[in-house]
Amino acid sequence: MTDGAVPAGDDGDATGTGDAGSTSDSSSGDSAEAVSCRALDYSFGDTKAVDGLDLSVRTGEIFGLLGPNGAGKTTAIRCITTLLPVPPDIVKVFGHDAAKEKMAVRRLLGYVPQQLSADAAMTGRENVTLFARVFDVPRRERAARVAQALDVVDLSDAADRMAQTYSGGMIRRLELAQALVSAPRLLMLDEPTIGLDPIARSSVWEHINAVRRATGMTVLVTTHYMDEAEQYCDRVGLMHRGRIHALGTPGELREELRERRRAEADEARKSGTTGESAETAESGEARSDTVPTLEDVFRDVVGQGLEEEGGTYRDVRSTRRTASRLG
Ligand SMILES: Nc1ncnc2c1ncn2[C@@H]1O[C@H](COP(=O)(O)OP(=O)(O)OP(=O)(O)O)[C@@H](O)[C@H]1O
Ligand SMILES: [Mg+2]
Repeated sequence: MTDGAVPAGDDGDATGTGDAGSTSDSSSGDSAEAVSCRALDYSFGDTKAVDGLDLSVRTGEIFGLLGPNGAGKTTAIRCITTLLPVPPDIVKVFGHDAAKEKMAVRRLLGYVPQQLSADAAMTGRENVTLFARVFDVPRRERAARVAQALDVVDLSDAADRMAQTYSGGMIRRLELAQALVSAPRLLMLDEPTIGLDPIARSSVWEHINAVRRATGMTVLVTTHYMDEAEQYCDRVGLMHRGRIHALGTPGELREELRERRRAEADEARKSGTTGESAETAESGEARSDTVPTLEDVFRDVVGQGLEEEGGTYRDVRSTRRTASRLG
């Protein structure tokens, strides 16, 4: 239905012919890529918040954008939601250009911002109804859709209480209902579980997963909780200083680091036999035997030489190839 709102072919495909693969069907909004950013830059004055970001989120996956404070995650998300302006042909959502087809993009997505977005002085139901109106849910369907969204996040019983009486976990679930009421094809969640207790955190995720199973919706989420990324994300991108430095499934990223550590241990052992550093070789060997966690990968990307200018995830890949050759 949302596709019908945008005449096929009005998204300037002629200028996008360089995009291999998904371009041919992008004008219908059926692109295999839910989100595509090509060399996205965004600056606040002198601060380069996003710096040449390449990002591709596949339709139907849960993609986790991880990274330290200030990495540029929220800025990138706000560019994708069209809340921050971007030049044409840089950001696409299901093939729709975020610069040229803002409204078409907005109709496809639900967004839970990092900052609280629920109005404390309204009831849960009123909050969700407001979003239903803003997101053009047809008037006749509105009441039922609002009730359904509240039900999905287990807030039916509390729906007519003021949001100021809700706990933090209930507020986050209310915001999830706000984002879900328009039945988005892409759900963007910026730190959806921050500050929640472990039970509330898994409850938020269970609700996200239930909707995703029922609708096939794509999810782009930022989180600082590595266990969540490991458990719930199909793929993760580690963002640092405005761009992605490592990309893959959590398992692939952990294995990549393990291979690199093995290669380093081998190198150190070789140096050790020539009498240089037997101690380093031993500790490196011990580390290379244990399977790294996603947190180790995070520390590795943020902490080590990749910070040097020009370091990108391709560096990880080439190190990996070297590791494979050695190993
Ligand atoms: N409205 C703004 N005005 C000026 N600078 C900003 C603004 N928003 C973000 N920045 C700067 O842009 C950079 C990226 O910030 P951003 O909020 O995108 O990071 P983040 O990865 O979401 O961090 P966090 O994990 O803390 O949420 C930071 O240096 C930040 O100070
Ligand atoms: Mg942020």
